[in-house]
Amino acid sequence: MNDIIELMLAHRSIRTYTDEPVPTEDIHAAVEAGQKAATSSNIQTYSIVHVTDAAMREALVSISGGQEKVLDCGAFFVLCADMRRHALLAERCGVPCEENVESFLLSVIDTALFAQNMALAFESMGWGTCYIGGIRNDLQAVQDLLHLPHRVSPLFGMTVGRPAEDPWPRPRFPISMVLQENGVMSDADVLAGCDAYDELMKDYYLKRGASGRTWCGQMERFYEQPKRPHLQAFFESKGIRWR
Ligand SMILES: Cc1cc2nc3c(=O)[nH]c(=O)nc-3n(C[C@H](O)[C@H](O)[C@H](O)COP(=O)(O)O)c2cc1C
Repeated sequence: MNDIIELMLAHRSIRTYTDEPVPTEDIHAAVEAGQKAATSSNIQTYSIVHVTDAAMREALVSISGGQEKVLDCGAFFVLCADMRRHALLAERCGVPCEENVESFLLSVIDTALFAQNMALAFESMGWGTCYIGGIRNDLQAVQDLLHLPHRVSPLFGMTVGRPAEDPWPRPRFPISMVLQENGVMSDADVLAGCDAYDELMKDYYLKRGASGRTWCGQMERFYEQPKRPHLQAFFESKGIRWR
């Protein structure tokens, strides 16, 4: 164990903030730390939009399904897969810029690695964070609001601010569910592991005043309907080709 691992193990998403703003120095430090995440072939296919305009933040609350923390937090960011730089460079020297599933994955993976390094850096400075996937309710609206150009695609948001709550950390699976040797476990062991996780989660749900809830029950319903089916058309409009 060391200080960095302890910080990582103490993570919990923060959804209620004081009105303390996040200083520019801390934002720069966290973004630079984010940039030091590994990036496929050093392509660095991401951009981050710091949304400081109150009216824009209010619009993002609404897009995200009424998540007031988007307005109330000390700083709000929209993280974007940015495939524009390569396209501009290709155009400038007259070569094709082929986008497909691989290039889309590269930019999403790069953005996620950047974001998680950045979140960890904020947490190391005492700030709380919460990812906001809710912006994907309407990416076209996010794009219009932020005037994002072709090939720059918003993926998720992140709230940052001084925590005004101290939530219980949410337990994860036992390590045996995710760390496996030379292959992965049988279906029967997966199901037994999920039931064992529910036992672990009982206490957590009880503390949160949600006794009776189970993780298995939530997951059974999670994929019942296809999630945000409009996203494929949106990403195609941004230049992504699936083959
Ligand atoms: C990509 C992504 C999108 C998320 N979107 C939201 C969101 O829109 N609103 C929210 O309150 N939490 C959101 N979360 C936070 C997760 O619910 C949270 O990380 C998860 O339940 C585990 O809890 P913990 O972070 O407290 O350990 C998101 C997390 C990720 C990684």
